[in-house]
Formats: sequence, structure tokens, C-alpha cells
Amino acid sequence: VRVGIVFGGKSAEHEVSLQSAKNIVDAIDQSKYEVVLLGIDKQGKWHLNDQSQFLLHAEDPKMIALNKTNEGISIIPGEEKNQVVTMNQSESLEQIDVIFPIIHGTLGEDGSIQGMLRMANIPFVGSNVLGSAISMDKDIAKRLLRDAGLGVAKGYTFTSAKRSQIQYQAIVEDFGLPLFIKPANQGSSVGVSKVLTEDEFYDGVQEAFKFDSKILIEEAIIGREIECSVLGNEHPIASTVGEIISTGEFYSYEAKYIDETGAILEIPAKLSEEMIEKIQDVSLKAYEALNCEGLARVDVFLTENNEIIVNEINTLPGFTKISMYPKLWEQSGISYSMLIEKLIELAIE
Ligand code: DAL
Ligand code: MG
Repeated sequence: VRVGIVFGGKSAEHEVSLQSAKNIVDAIDQSKYEVVLLGIDKQGKWHLNDQSQFLLHAEDPKMIALNKTNEGISIIPGEEKNQVVTMNQSESLEQIDVIFPIIHGTLGEDGSIQGMLRMANIPFVGSNVLGSAISMDKDIAKRLLRDAGLGVAKGYTFTSAKRSQIQYQAIVEDFGLPLFIKPANQGSSVGVSKVLTEDEFYDGVQEAFKFDSKILIEEAIIGREIECSVLGNEHPIASTVGEIISTGEFYSYEAKYIDETGAILEIPAKLSEEMIEKIQDVSLKAYEALNCEGLARVDVFLTENNEIIVNEINTLPGFTKISMYPKLWEQSGISYSMLIEKLIELAIE
């Protein structure tokens, strides 16, 4: 079976994708699968096989500047000198049996590549166009989760056209402080701010609008951050749950990938069996409500009153060996290599 691994991409999570892809390539059972690498650079150009190898060894998220923008940093300065093959899509894609797109964020996780693959008639790992698109957009996802009877944070959505209506005083009256400000379509907490003052508030608004033309301003949920991995198509299963114990203000990009002391992943989370089952149940309901397929990691808050608030669903979650998604499966008896195999089977079935 020829498996195409599509990685990199134009999103702000480019570097995270390189790490996920590198781990998958290292662990995939090469006696069963022939790997074809399809790297996409920060400019959106596709690179095939040998030419995309270099992308896999490119920058570690630790090495990149924190003030990321979507224009981004070129992957390897001077790499243009290399002979780069721009993919001849019809020819190359036909030879691939299944694609594992491991691009986080815009274009990879939002239905764009899924639509392209559907049109090319190639099976792929993960959610289809609709599930990907609605899970990526935190505003749309919240509406659907709420409609399914699940708890979500209170908040407002603003588009850049309505920016002048963003009034600090009014929002603080409704939701108190601190507030969270986030781009609607982003991942890894890029562009997210936790704010306590009026100055921070307007800075946070500006920051979030750098990444999207739609932003969310939400109440801060006081609670424990719990994550659950879901796997499957029509009959998905939920893993045990893990807890993120942040040492900083919140589970930021820095805490996720740069500062090793920024957060501890506790697997499994120290919770009662009963509570774990409740969270698994909510995770499966959220997965279904958002039309997910293949895989997703459901992130929730557990409040002091034992309320479960769904924060978001990631349809292509971080996928390194030490990422929460595969770690939870490992704890539940599915090794990293087995997980890759299961995902490929789910894509083909
Ligand atoms: N968006 C990142 C990759 C995650 O959810 O793990
Ligand atoms: Mg996310």
C-alpha cells in the first residue's frame, strides 16, 4: 500500500506539522506501507519525495520566533537552490492508495485539502470536508455543540467588519475578567490572549485579527483541562482521558512546544472512573455533532461544579510520539504504530 504523507503547509502550525510527520514516517511499518512524502512549504508550494525530505528535518518549533505571522518564515533559507519538483498532481496522485494529511490548521485541517483529495478520488485519513471545516471554525463548532446539548464557554464572535463594535466595558460586564480572545480559525493557541486589563484587551483583539478575519471573545472557564482521543468512523471509540496541568497563565503555544516546563501531561488524568466515562461520553457526542471521522482529540474543561465544557475539537491533532492524542491511545492499549495502521484502515474502509 502506498501511503502519501502530506505535511508542512502554509498555516501558522507549519513547524508542528513537520514534527508530527517526522514521527509518523519513523514509526510507520515499512514492510506494509510504502511512504511517499508530499511536503508543502510555507509559500504553499508542493515538493515530492526526495525534494520533500528536507522539510522533515526543518525547524523545530523551539527554534522559531514566537511572534508568528501567516507570512511566516521560509523553511530553510537558500533552499531554492535545490532542484524542486512542483508536483505533477494527476500523475503522482494516481499512484497513491491513501493519503495521511498531517497538516495542522488552515488548509490542512479546515476541509480544503480534504476537498481536493475527494475530487482526486483518493481516500484519506481523518474527517471529510464538512467535519473538518466545522471543527476548525471555533465559532461554528460552538453553535453546533451547543445545539447538541453540550456545554460551551459563553462569548461573542466579531468579524473584522464589526470590529468597531468591540467594547471592553460591555464585554467585561457580561463575562467578567479575565477574558480569552482567539482567532476563530487557528490552532496551537496561536493568536490567543488571556487578558485582564483594557490595554491588554485591545492588544489581544489586534493580535487575534492578525490570524483571522473572525475572532471570539470568551469568558474564562475556571477548571481542569482534560483531553480525550476519539477514533473511528460510524462507531467511534474514546480513549482514556489526560489532563494538561499548565504552569503558566494558560496552555499557550510556548507551553505546548517551546518551554518544557510550561505544562505537564498527566495520563491518565486523576479522576474517578465515573467522571472519565462522562467525559468520554461527551467527547463521543461532540465527535458525532461535528461530523468527525477517523480521528479527533476533544478538549474540555471540567469545572469545580463537575460541569464539562467543550473547548474545541481538533480533527488533525498534534501527532508526535509524545503528543496527547497517541499517548492516550497508548495508555488505552493501542501503540503508536498500530494507531497509524488503524487510521489508514479507517481511511480505506
Ligand atoms: N492544533 C494542535 C496541533 C493540536 O491540537 O494538537
Ligand atoms: Mg485546536
